[in-house]
Amino acid sequence: MTTPIQATLIPGDGIGPEIVDATVAALDALGAPFEWDRQIAGLGGVQACGDPLPEATLQSIRRTRLALKGPLETPTGGGYRSSNVRLREEFQLYANLRPARTIVPGGRFDKIDLVVVRENLEGLYIGHEHYVKIDNDPHAVAMATGINTRAGGRRLLEFAFDHAVATGRKKVTIVHKANIMKALTGLFLETGLELYESKYKGKFELDTVIIDACAMKLVLNPWQFDMLVTTNLFGDILSDLVAGLVGGLGIAPGANIGTDAAIFEAVHGSAPDIAGKGLANPIALMLAAAMMLDHVKLPDMATKLRTAIDDTLNIDKVRTGDLGGKAGTAEFTKAVVSRIRS
Ligand code: NAI
Repeated sequence: MTTPIQATLIPGDGIGPEIVDATVAALDALGAPFEWDRQIAGLGGVQACGDPLPEATLQSIRRTRLALKGPLETPTGGGYRSSNVRLREEFQLYANLRPARTIVPGGRFDKIDLVVVRENLEGLYIGHEHYVKIDNDPHAVAMATGINTRAGGRRLLEFAFDHAVATGRKKVTIVHKANIMKALTGLFLETGLELYESKYKGKFELDTVIIDACAMKLVLNPWQFDMLVTTNLFGDILSDLVAGLVGGLGIAPGANIGTDAAIFEAVHGSAPDIAGKGLANPIALMLAAAMMLDHVKLPDMATKLRTAIDDTLNIDKVRTGDLGGKAGTAEFTKAVVSRIRS
């Protein structure tokens, strides 16, 4: 009998509740020992109590230190600040781990197995932005400040390097733009090179590449990379790029990990265009749940879940519309659950 694990569950906005229900059904079939505390955030939080990140939700994560989260809607331009960014800051979730693995063979790129590790708290995402008014134009000039610290870069690079060693990655590539942003991304590069020399040399191969060249190389020959580690904005962009290499956002999971809390989610957003229609692909969140099982040291259940998803897609040929199939969320989930039980 496995010890119960308290965890916060945030269904989120748009397709969130549909894919969260699907994922919980798969976890229940596995017998995963999570005891869920359901909480709201995002647009749901605004509608229920005028707050995209209600205090009760924060309190729950403070207690459980572990959450599975559906996507949260953020208005573009004005409106409230992203609840996702606030959650990362509140719980100091400095590492964003986004694996991309081919699970549907025969796409444009086959046999991809890559992981992007993104610094999650610093850089250009710190929110120090403002406009300067000139004459009658209040938005005549837009300014943003990026801040990277040696300590922040170092803890992220250490996390990435440790993860590379623990998961048997052969090569880690630091992605930067130190030729132009010499201080902001040069510091990250310098810290990574120093850390490798002092603690990790010989444990894996270390390479460095400029972000623009990296984007091109990823499209021409993604197999030359194994793990990419980079600053916040570059990591945000590259992790979507690598998700595209393996068939899109519908199958890309992500983990936000800090020293003493972790939040697991799909990389995609709330998909308002298909919300409530029963069409959403729940794989990304199911794979995030598999990362959560690894995190709580239940790797056998994680493997069982990943295998059930692979077999549903490739043996049973049950696929949702975004992967070229005809199944809806419910049919796909039923197929995964019966694979788990078989
Ligand atoms: P999106 O990822 O929600 O949708 C982009 C496209 O991919 C849409 O056509 C959508 O239908 C499709 N798609 C996404 N997930 C899918 C799934 N599981 N199955 C099938 N198709 C899927 O991106 P968009 O439209 O830019 O953002 C919508 C909202 O989500 C925004 O408010 C945004 O701020 C928020 N968002 C939240 C994230 C989070 O909570 N981690 C991450 C990204 C966006």
